[in-house]
Amino acid sequence: MNKYSDFMKNEGVGWERIKKLKVDFMRMVETKEKDGVGRDLHQAAIAVQNILQVIKEAGFDFTGMSVTHGTGHIVRNYAHCWLLFENLEGISSEDLFCGFIAGCLHDIGCLFFDRYSEHRHVIRHAEASALLLQEFFGEKQFNGLTEREKKKILYAVSAHTHYLNDVVVNCSDGERRATNPYIDVNNSGKPIWPVWLARWIDRLDINSPQAYPARLYLPLVKSRVDYKQEGFYEVEYHDYMSITETHGVFGDRSMAYSLNQIADTQNNNSPYGKFDFGKMIELRDKYRDWYYEFFEIIKLRRIFSLKEKEMILGSWTNYLWHNIEPTEKARKYAEELEKEFNKLDENTQSGWLSGFVFMLRKYVEWSEMTLGRLNSLPSEFLKLPGMSEDIREIIKPHADWILYIENNF
Ligand SMILES: [Fe+2]
Repeated sequence: MNKYSDFMKNEGVGWERIKKLKVDFMRMVETKEKDGVGRDLHQAAIAVQNILQVIKEAGFDFTGMSVTHGTGHIVRNYAHCWLLFENLEGISSEDLFCGFIAGCLHDIGCLFFDRYSEHRHVIRHAEASALLLQEFFGEKQFNGLTEREKKKILYAVSAHTHYLNDVVVNCSDGERRATNPYIDVNNSGKPIWPVWLARWIDRLDINSPQAYPARLYLPLVKSRVDYKQEGFYEVEYHDYMSITETHGVFGDRSMAYSLNQIADTQNNNSPYGKFDFGKMIELRDKYRDWYYEFFEIIKLRRIFSLKEKEMILGSWTNYLWHNIEPTEKARKYAEELEKEFNKLDENTQSGWLSGFVFMLRKYVEWSEMTLGRLNSLPSEFLKLPGMSEDIREIIKPHADWILYIENNF
C-alpha cells in the first residue's frame, strides 16, 4: 500500500468518488457527442504501456496480484484487444481507443486486494481499478488523453464487472451501502461502447476453455468465495472438481457447472451477449463450441496409465505457472494443487486428465492464432512494462509441456 491507496483505507471516501465519476459520466453521455481527436489501436497500445510504466514506477508489483487477475490475464486481454478490435464497424475510433485501454487495465485494482474478497466491499476490484487510474490521470498527461477519453476509460473500468442485480453490502467500516448495476446503454437504448468493449475483452478470457478453467483452478489452494447469480458462495477443492452429473447436469457447486453456465450465456439472447456482433461473435462462438466439446470429453472419463497421468499432470502444472500466470506465486499454487489432485477419486481424476489434455491442445490452437496477430505488429508493441519485454514469451506454449502434448495427443 502507498499514497495511492487512501481510498482503500476509507471506503466511504472511495464510494463518494465513484458516485461522482458515475454522475459526471452520465452527464457527458447525455450531451451530443462531438468528434473525437481521431485514434487508432497503436495509440491505445502506447497509452496502455505508458500507464503500466507509471504504475510500475510508483512501486506497484504486478507479480503480487491475484493469480486469476494478474499478469497472465492482462497479457491475454492485451492480445485479445489486438484480435478483436479490427473490423468492428460502427464504433467510433474514440470508443475503440477507450475500450482497448479499459479492456487491458480493468483489473489493475487487484494490486490492492484479491478479487475474491470483494463481497465485503462496495469498492470492489473494478472500482479500485478506476480510482487508481484516476489518481494517475490526475498526475500525468499520457500522450494527451482528453478529458472525455479519461471519463470514458474510468467509467468503463468501474462498470466492467457485469453484475445484474442490486446488492446491499455490509462494508468493512461497519456501514451498509447499496450498489446498483452500472448504466450501460444511453437514453436511446444504444450500448455505451467503451463499457461493452471492456466487458467483451474480459469475457473472452472467461469464455475460454484455453485459459479460464486454469484461472479458476489456481486459487483452489485456498478456500474462497465466488459469485453466482443467486449470490456469493464458498468454493472448496473436492466439491469444485466434482464432475458427477444428475440428469446430465453437473453438480451446482462444481467448476464444470459454472463453466457450463458460462457457455450457455455466450449468445445474443443473454444479458452478457446481447450486443455481440462481427469479430466478437466469431471468437465467442469458436470458444463456446470448445467448451461444449470439453464437457463431452470429461464425461468420458478416459483411463490413463500411471505414466500418462504423471506426464499430463506435470504438463498441466507447467502450463499453469508458465503460461496462465507466470509468477513464483502461481508456481507454488500449481505444485500444491498437484498433490490435491492425487487425492481425488479415480473417476474424477480420469475425467479431468482428458479435460487437461483438451485444454492444453486448445491453448496451443489459441496461441497460434494469437501469435499470428502479434507477429504482425511492430516489435515495440510486444512489451508490457512490469510484466514482459515480449509478451509472446508468456503466450507461447512453454517448452516444458508442449512437446509431450504434441507428440502424444
Ligand atoms: Fe478481467
